Parts: sequence; C-alpha cells; structure tokens
Amino acid sequence: MSISDEVTRQIKDKIEIVDLIEDYLPLKKVGKNYRTNCPFHKDDTPSFYVSPDLNIFHCFGCGKSGDIITFIMEYEKVSFPEAVRILANKAGIEIGEFGGENKILYTIHKFATDFYHKKLLNSPRVLNYLRKRGIESKTIKEFKLGFAPSGSNFLPEAKKKFKVDDLMRSGLVKESKGNIKDHFFLRLLFPLFSPSGRVIGFGGRRLSKKGPKYLNSPDTPIHKKGKNLYSLWHTKEEIRKLKTVILVEGYFDFLSIYQAGIKNAVACLGTSLTGDQAQLLSRYADEVVIFFDRDVAGRKATLRSLGMLLNEGVDVKIGKPETGKDPDEIIHTRGIEKFKGLLEESSDFVDWTLNRIRDEYDLSSPMGLSKAVEEVSSILSQIREPTRYEIYKEAVSRKLAVRQDLLGVKKTPQNLEVRQKMHEIPERDEFELSFIYAMIEKPEERKFVFSILNEEDIENPHLKKWFRLMKENKVVSIEEVIESLPKNLMDYVIRESEKPAISATLSAINLKKYSLDKLIERKRLELQRVEEKGDEEVDLLREIRALIDKRRELKEGEIIGN
Ligand code: UTP
Ligand code: MN
Repeated sequence: MSISDEVTRQIKDKIEIVDLIEDYLPLKKVGKNYRTNCPFHKDDTPSFYVSPDLNIFHCFGCGKSGDIITFIMEYEKVSFPEAVRILANKAGIEIGEFGGENKILYTIHKFATDFYHKKLLNSPRVLNYLRKRGIESKTIKEFKLGFAPSGSNFLPEAKKKFKVDDLMRSGLVKESKGNIKDHFFLRLLFPLFSPSGRVIGFGGRRLSKKGPKYLNSPDTPIHKKGKNLYSLWHTKEEIRKLKTVILVEGYFDFLSIYQAGIKNAVACLGTSLTGDQAQLLSRYADEVVIFFDRDVAGRKATLRSLGMLLNEGVDVKIGKPETGKDPDEIIHTRGIEKFKGLLEESSDFVDWTLNRIRDEYDLSSPMGLSKAVEEVSSILSQIREPTRYEIYKEAVSRKLAVRQDLLGVKKTPQNLEVRQKMHEIPERDEFELSFIYAMIEKPEERKFVFSILNEEDIENPHLKKWFRLMKENKVVSIEEVIESLPKNLMDYVIRESEKPAISATLSAINLKKYSLDKLIERKRLELQRVEEKGDEEVDLLREIRALIDKRRELKEGEIIGN
C-alpha cells in the first residue's frame, strides 16, 4: 500500500512548518517570515526562509524549497515514505502499513537484529572475544552487536515469519549452488542504522580465518554502500551540538572512542568518504577531524576524503595516529588521554598537505616543486568559499615560496550569480504575480475582479493557468502555485509574502493599468511607424483614444472602489 494523500494531509495539518524547522535550525523572525542560514549550502547570510503563511521553506541562495516533507527528505537524507514516517511519528499519527515493498525489509532487519543479538548474548566465545577487544557490555547492547554462528541459523527461523522472496531481497539470505542459505556465517555483526534509527544492513567481522576480514550486506533497496555513515544515528545530536565530528575508518575505532566518552564520532567504514557521506556530515558539522589508519591506504583515504569535505564547505583537520595503527589501538594500548592529546594536536589540512608534500617531493628541484604545486593546487581548488580559498592560497604560496598565480585559478563568488538572477524578473511578471498572490489571499474579492479583468490580461502562461482555475471556481492554494513556478518567480512570491497582502481589487486595477499602459505605448509606436510611412492612421488613432478612455475610467473606478 502506498502512502495515502490522507496521511500526508493529516501530517501537514498537524505540523506547523516553523515548529518543525525550529527543531533543527535556529530561526529568526523577520516580518511575517522566519530566516536562518541555509542548511543545504554553505551560507553566510541567512538566505533560508520559512514562511508560515505559505507553509514552505525556500532558500534564495541555492534555490531549495518545499514543504515539511521535502524538508525532512532533504535534511535527514531519507526517501519520501521515510520522511512521512518520521513526521507521522512526531505528530503522533498512526499510519499503519505503508512504505510499500520496503516496509517488509525494515521488519526483516529488525527481526534479524534481535535474532543475531540474542545469539551473541548466548555465545561465551564471542563475548570473550569482545571483552578481549575492550568492548563493554553496555556498548554491545546499545549498538545491538550480533553473532552469526557457523550454520545457516537465520533462514529456518526467518522463514517461519517471512516469505523467502522478501528474505532474498533483504540480502540476509542468498542462493548458492541451487540452495538458499544465510549471507553471514561465523561473523560478529554490526547492525547499520539509518540516520533515522532503523537497521538497514549489517557489517560482519570474521571470527575465523576464512573469508574477507569484513563482509557487509549487499546493496538492497534500503541500503546502498557509501550512502550512510556508521553510527550517525547514535551520535548526530552530539555532532550537531559540538559542530565538529571525528571521522574514523572502522567499527572498532568508533566503538572504542564512543565508549571512552567521545560521542561526536562516526565511521565511514574503510573506503574513503563518498560525496554522499561528505554531504551528510556537512549537514551536522562545520568541522571534521579525519583520524584514519596510519598506513598508506589510510593516507590515501585521508586525501580523498579531504577533497570531498572541502567541496561541501566544511573545515578539515587531520589527526595523526603516530603512536599506533588506528584509534582503536591507540586507545587500548596508550589510553584515552593519549588519544585526546593527539586529537588536540591535529593539524590544519593545509599544513598536513604541505608536510606530506615535503616528505614526498624534493622541493629544491623544479620537477619536485612543480609536482608539489600541482597537488596542492588540486586540494586548494576544492575549497568552495572564495575568501577562504584566497587566504589559504596565500598561506601556501608563502610556505612553498611559489608565486600565488601558480597555485590555480581565481574563484568568483558562488552566490553572486544567483543573487543577481534573483532580482531579474520582468516587470510584467511582477504585476501579474502580485495580482495572483492577492487573489489567493483575498478570495472574497474575486467576483469583482473577474468583472474587470480577463484571461487575456495575464501574459505569463504559468499564471494564466491559475487565473483560469480560479475563474472556474477551483480551489487554488498558494503552495501549488509556488510549486508550479520557475525559480525566479518563486523567489519573488516569497519576498512578496513578506509584505501584508494588498487588496486583490487594487492589485487587479494596477495590473489592468499596467497592461493598458503597455498597450497604449505599443499602439503609439505603431502609429509613429504608420505616420512615417504616410499610411492611413484613423483606425489606430481611434483605437488609442478608446484605450486612453478605458484607462481614465479605471482611475475613476479605482476611486469608487476605494
Ligand atoms: P581495518 O582493516 O583497519 O579493520 O579496516 P579494523 O577496523 O581495524 O578492524 P580490526 O580492528 O582489525 O578488527 C577498517 C574498516 O574498513 C572496513 C571495515 O568497516 C573496517 O572496520 N573493511 C575493512 C571492510 O569493509 N572490508 C574489509 O575487508 C576490510
Ligand atoms: Mn583499522
């Protein structure tokens, strides 16, 4: 069953957009609307508007806009059904079975999490392994760690409750040589939680010598490799609060840090950060401290992740795991205080890059220097913010003693173009938009308006349509209208909504006057051409006369109207 319009309507009725967004972002009231810095792009001025009247949010910087559902989808990085589920939960609305085919996959994962967790709690051998690795029982429970024993244990139990087809789709069982069997054997399991707290897959560490060290759930409709971050669900509030996050590679790194009391961390699970993961993190943190393994792979991953993060406009520091292999090892061999000390000493990404370059290239040779310049330029070029870019470039140029112009191309301010575009809306559209807006706000005036204006007075096809629908007595909401508009017009309506709505009648008269003025102007030009050619001009003159009369009447009508 898909989500009914009824459910979304109920949710929209119950949740005020301002209340919702206020849970996530500090809002400041300005006029009728609320403003804050946009969470969806690097924003230094508050370009993000929330309009309680229009029930929408809108960013003048990046152009993102929508209703409460869109906001949750964008902010929490979730699908439509998932966003509805979150909102229904907030609103205390019972939504029952929905979410289509994926719903069952979440249910299966919930069942599997409990199943494997119980297995772990009943396995002294695995509990012992975890104890030796310093994982406390509180952590085991909080992260619902599990154990997949050596036989196909899960399938026979799961089959009692779920269809084999669905189990196959969940990725937890698979077909092999004509038989269906479990995906995980003899592994310690780390449930992967989605940012909204549901288990969507597992990572499994081998407990024998067989197979790869870590084996994950395959990609499924609810889990895609590289989209999620391990533990974000558990730490996102703390990260949001502190605005900084420690990024590590592995499950054990994360769990060791977490149980030592550092709760603003996430693990990206071995591979370097993907663009999606970087974007997800930038939603919560302004600064990321990368603390990867102290090996070649770790260094490469650091470099790639650094680029991804700079691209999302976050600050990056690099931790130096100089006393051990990875954070897990440092904490267990040298203690948490040592680790905290290393965190304190983490270096600015530019210093880190320069140090690495000094290690790798001979900067006294032109060849070495040019390679170094190339590498450093490619990192600098990922800094999105023009001012920061210039400052870092200057610092690098000083430290490497190379001319600034050798370090890449000059950046232009990103938002400039958008800002300029925002004001570029044709005059006629302004009149028409104000008019349509007023018509929606003041439905009681519509009848009179229809007596003085008709469809031909509206030129913009987007707006003409809405005018027609109102004339046909259809219910038209401002949200629908806004959604149907191209971005520049949308921006305009939202700014318009800042002002108190003027009367629809006045607005109609203004539009009519404007429309007549333009027409008269056009006819006059035509007349000029006709005169130049020495052609007959009587008809045109008469036409213009009539228009001017009409224009004058309108003036009088306006006075009567008032
Ligand atoms: P590591 O090999 O550094 O493992 O990979 P680790 O976390 O230190 O594990 P232990 O301490 O030896 O048990 C770092 C992370 O990379 C992912 C895992 O998420 C792992 O935690 N990884 C590693 C895989 O996904 N597959 C692999 O085969 C290896
Ligand atoms: Mn490791």
